[in-house]
Amino acid sequence: MCGIVGYIGSKDTTKFLLDGLKELEYRGYDSAGIALLNKDRIDVFKALGKLNNLQDKIDHSTLDEYDIGIGHTRWATHGKPTELNAHPHLGEYSYVVHNGIIENYKELKDELIEAGHNFVSQTDTEVIVHLFENYQNKLNDTTKAFKETISRLQGAFSILLISKANPEKIFFFKHGSPLIIARGNEEEEVLFSSSDSPLIGLAKEVVYLEDGIGGVASKNSIDFFSDDYSWSTLPTSKQFAQKNGFRFFMEKETYEQSDVVSDCMLGRINDEEIIFDEIDKSLLDGIKEIKICACGTSYHAGLTASYLFERLSKIKCNVEIASEFRYKEPLLTDDTLFIVISQSGETADTLEALKMAKNNGLKSLVICNVDNSSMTRMSDYTILTRAGIEKGVASTKAFSTQTVVLWMLSLYFAKIKDSISNELMKSELHALREVPKSLLISNSIHEKTKRLSKRYLHGHGFFFIGRDVFFPLALEGALKLKEISYLHAEGYPSGEMKHGPIALADPELFTIALMPENLLYDKIKSNVEELSARDSTICSISPLEFELSDDFIKTQKTDHYMLEFFEMLVVLQLFSMEISIRLGNDVDMPRNLAKSVTVE
Ligand code: AGP
Repeated sequence: MCGIVGYIGSKDTTKFLLDGLKELEYRGYDSAGIALLNKDRIDVFKALGKLNNLQDKIDHSTLDEYDIGIGHTRWATHGKPTELNAHPHLGEYSYVVHNGIIENYKELKDELIEAGHNFVSQTDTEVIVHLFENYQNKLNDTTKAFKETISRLQGAFSILLISKANPEKIFFFKHGSPLIIARGNEEEEVLFSSSDSPLIGLAKEVVYLEDGIGGVASKNSIDFFSDDYSWSTLPTSKQFAQKNGFRFFMEKETYEQSDVVSDCMLGRINDEEIIFDEIDKSLLDGIKEIKICACGTSYHAGLTASYLFERLSKIKCNVEIASEFRYKEPLLTDDTLFIVISQSGETADTLEALKMAKNNGLKSLVICNVDNSSMTRMSDYTILTRAGIEKGVASTKAFSTQTVVLWMLSLYFAKIKDSISNELMKSELHALREVPKSLLISNSIHEKTKRLSKRYLHGHGFFFIGRDVFFPLALEGALKLKEISYLHAEGYPSGEMKHGPIALADPELFTIALMPENLLYDKIKSNVEELSARDSTICSISPLEFELSDDFIKTQKTDHYMLEFFEMLVVLQLFSMEISIRLGNDVDMPRNLAKSVTVE
């Protein structure tokens, strides 16, 4: 979740780096830094928090002329967000910026400490620059030293490295995380970035580096270490680049879910347990129950979590809509852990609920996507969801990352409470690792939702139904449809339909039935049969064909209901979006809504 930029040329290096980082800031913003090289001098500026802080520092400094520079905006994975942990990282005479995670950094660090290197940060990245200098000191050849360095790294690493040992060059390598190299519009200019948008207007030709490709660039040459690369034309529209070729931000963000969920899990799962550096085990001291408060989509993630907290952690959990909680004169006792969930961290009702909990002396934890937001500042503990900026008003990746964090948290608590067998823990961890795969979108499933959408543009209403965690998922599916298509939709527990809503059933009532194979399949099947018997139009989403469906969206077979949950989530998001597009609505900015609801 970091952004990288680099520049070689005669224009204003500092400006390119800062403008570029501004474009990438959405990737992460707990700190930022740049390193600028002028022959025998490297100047470095780092600041905590948003880019403005870095800009302020630079504005108050006297700058030299620089021909080369690298920059980075960080979202912490290893080591807390501090200035020391901010990139670029320094050896004796070289600097590196890195996006990804070095899995074998501990053993490399031990080896380098043994060899006399001093480390100042808690990051995995710092080993790269020391490893480089270790080889350079032995080999006295920067290209060889860089290649040796790369050959020792495991994990994901997209890197830019500069060194006084070869002050006219940037060494680059891509593995796992994205990296682009571009020939600038000016003569003798080379640009780097981890995404298109900082380059738009400044370069026409780029190489989207493939994994395992690296090289050395100077102002008049780019030497790749292999021939596996090709130049392509850079898009000219920033909007287009920002949307990565997708029609809407919502579509892009739906597709991004697999990646951001991987980012969200990065460094937080090992073979035996969940690791959250940002909280500690004492969080549960004296706690008997959990109360969750949130609004909208975040409330649905909270409802999903309530099943997991009770099932896996064996902790009593209840969930409340923040606007209701505020005025019900709730009984709050200090044996309750108060969890708020918010993409923005600014939603007024949720923020007020958090204040009430704090005033009543409850321990608080926020699951949030925006660091430094009002909620992360107010709460005792924060877990960031690392979804990156979500631009579409209809939440997509915020929900999937929140749900993954909450699932991980239920396992983290289960371990503390000793409420889970080693065997179950192992299979849960295994399933968690498979989530990014469940969120991948195949052409066929997208095409299917597109084709089906034309049959669902009318009618007198939709019922999304499911059981257990598929009930909150049904609520989320209905909310997605309502907010962007303006069609009436309700989410309902499928077993509850017979207590009233089934009276609405007729061919113009559309039932979207979530029918997972691995959780209560027979129960939901009989509920859907009841609706079918009353002639409701049924669209079932399931890995198992259901003969009473009018329409059927087939999901993949898996062995865990949460993997079915995530795949069905994607189907519901695409289905709503395709209906909205057919109706000619503004998918990203639906009427009457705002991305962040900071009023009561
Ligand atoms: C759903 O698509 C909406 N964006 C909305 O329901 C949202 O989840 C709600 O307003 C809460 O926002 P928050 O997560 O930023 O607190």
